Amino acid sequence: MSYFISFEGGEGTGKSTQIKILKGKIDSSNYKCLVIQEPGTTQLGNKLRNLLKKETPKEESITYMSELLLFSAARSELVTKIIKPNLKKNNLIIIADRYVDSTTAYQGFGRNLDLSEIKLINNIATQMIYPDITFLLDSNPKIMSHRIMTKDNQSKNVTPENIRKDIKGSRKFEEEPLDFHNRVRNGYLEILKSYPGRIIKIDANQDKNIISNLIWQNLQNKIPNLK
Ligand code: TMP
Repeated sequence: MSYFISFEGGEGTGKSTQIKILKGKIDSSNYKCLVIQEPGTTQLGNKLRNLLKKETPKEESITYMSELLLFSAARSELVTKIIKPNLKKNNLIIIADRYVDSTTAYQGFGRNLDLSEIKLINNIATQMIYPDITFLLDSNPKIMSHRIMTKDNQSKNVTPENIRKDIKGSRKFEEEPLDFHNRVRNGYLEILKSYPGRIIKIDANQDKNIISNLIWQNLQNKIPNLK
C-alpha cells in the first residue's frame, strides 16, 4: 500500500527543512519515498512554476482567476502523471511540498476568490485524490517575516546577499503585504476546521528536531508497519 502526505503552511514556516528530514527518515525505513513539489515536478508544472512565480511589471500581471487556473492545471498534470500511478505502487510514501490546500489558502483566502468555485476547481484538478495526512506548519506571519526576508533564517540584517529568493530570483509571493500573509494563515486555520481528521497543525516556531519528531510520531500512527 502507498500513502500520500502533504506539507502546507505560509512562507518561511520550514516546510522544505522538514521534508528533507522526513525523506531521510523514510529512506532508512521499510518504505520508499517520492518527493513532489507544487507547482512543479512535471514538465508543464515546471514551466508554470516559472511563469507563476515570476515578478512582472504591473501591466503584464495576470488576473487572480488565471493564476488559480494555472496552479490547478499544474496540479491536474501532476495528479494524472505522477500521483495516481505512484499510488498503485507498494510501500511508497509520496510527500507533496504543497497541494490543494495551498490553492484554497492563497487564491481563496489570500486573493479573495470565491471559495465554492475554488472547491469545484480543486475537485476537478485533484480527481478527488486527497492526502492521507497533511502537516500544516503554522506560525504568525509577523514572526515569520524575518525568515521570509532571509534565506538562512538566521541573519539579523537583510542584505542583497542573504535576501530570500526563489531559485530563479523571484520574490513574487514573499513581497505580498503582511495582510495577505495573515489572510493565508487564517485561511489554513479555517481549512483545518473542515478537515480535522486529515490535517495536523504543528507550531512552526518550535525547534526543528521537536517538529520532525512530532511528524514522525504522527506518521507512524497512520502507518503502523512503518519502521
Ligand atoms: P514555494 O514552492 O517556494 O512555496 O512557492 C510556491 C508559491 O506559490 C508559494 O508562495 C505559494 C504559492 N501557491 C499558490 O499561491 N497557490 C497554489 O496552489 C500553490 C501550490 C502555491
